[in-house]
Amino acid sequence: MSKSRWSVMQIGKMKEIIGEGAAEALGEEIAARGVKKALIVTDDGVVAAGHVARISENLKAHGVDNVIYDGVRTDPLDEMVREGLKLLNEQGCDGVLAVGGGSSMDTAKAISAMKYNEGDIMEYTRHTEVRRGWKAGRLPLFFAVTTAGTGSQQSPYAVITNTKINRKCNVTSELFYPDLIILDATLTYTLNQKWTASCGFDTLAHAIDGYTVKQLICVPNDYYDTLALKAIELTGKSLRQAYAIPQNYEARKDMLVASDLAGLMLSAGTGATHGLANMLSKYYHVPHGESVGMLLPYVMEYNMIASPERFRKVAEALGIDTAGMTDMEAGHAAVDEVKQLIRDVHLPYVCDYIKEEKEIYNFLEESLPNTCNYANAREINYEAAEWIFVSAFRKE
Ligand SMILES: [Fe+2]
Repeated sequence: MSKSRWSVMQIGKMKEIIGEGAAEALGEEIAARGVKKALIVTDDGVVAAGHVARISENLKAHGVDNVIYDGVRTDPLDEMVREGLKLLNEQGCDGVLAVGGGSSMDTAKAISAMKYNEGDIMEYTRHTEVRRGWKAGRLPLFFAVTTAGTGSQQSPYAVITNTKINRKCNVTSELFYPDLIILDATLTYTLNQKWTASCGFDTLAHAIDGYTVKQLICVPNDYYDTLALKAIELTGKSLRQAYAIPQNYEARKDMLVASDLAGLMLSAGTGATHGLANMLSKYYHVPHGESVGMLLPYVMEYNMIASPERFRKVAEALGIDTAGMTDMEAGHAAVDEVKQLIRDVHLPYVCDYIKEEKEIYNFLEESLPNTCNYANAREINYEAAEWIFVSAFRKE
């Protein structure tokens, strides 16, 4: 694991290091930013995988003392932010390091900002009587990413559940962009097959949904288009291999980079996969990546007529030879390829969670008012949502 093989990128104040074993850079990088004692925000699975112990030792070897908060769970709760912040204050920590996926990163974002900003984290969302604005800064913030999915490291969002109203809330702040991102694909070796598939489909949905949002169709942006198509290409090329052989470094690196690129797409918006899938998570506790993946081919099919040429590009990025095909034919080939990918990595289907088709009608109306649906290529009305959910349920 040679340092010379690491790739270092600096954008503004944010540094990103990509490479095999790059987590070894954490101690030096965190010490260089003057942090004396870091709060490591993580979950028990990442601790059990041994990553946290190694990183903790690495920090200590560079003079950075550290305390571990391993109370994060999937879909983090507001109380985890409060617990982490309490520990940080009690222990006098002056920096926050997330070692984990989106849940740990989102919790770490919130903790680092709540150190200096007044009130409670849930007062910084839309779902509060009096909404606070961010007035102060945050503690130094670092991410060692252990999943290839949410791309949270590249977004100004943290999704935290408000336990009082039992609702996932989006917290947004420029403060949430970190000082350092480590993309060391060896940290993702321990991601099991179920989560590899789930996270991979979150990435693919961010990229395809993002590439075909209304705004980008009407006002193309070369920057976003390039990010999205590369993320689609890497996922199409490497998700199966990462799923089949967990220690395949190249495949894992492709997926980690794909998730990072797709994470940058989040600021372009996401469409109906994310807009509608919320219902599956809310009522059936479907993991986020699975829920968006289940709907992805049907949302693609529904959206296709809005921009057949964009769906041709999606097909090409997925490695399909589209010579001789019309744009619509190529788009349908892309849909078929996504369905094949679902089968190959054994992503569950809607009918694995919802037993009877009629249950869909319990949440159809509720699924419509969602900002992601408003960004979608085509209007998501009742009939559209019905077609997407029913088609996905029937595996059509
Ligand atoms: Fe997502």
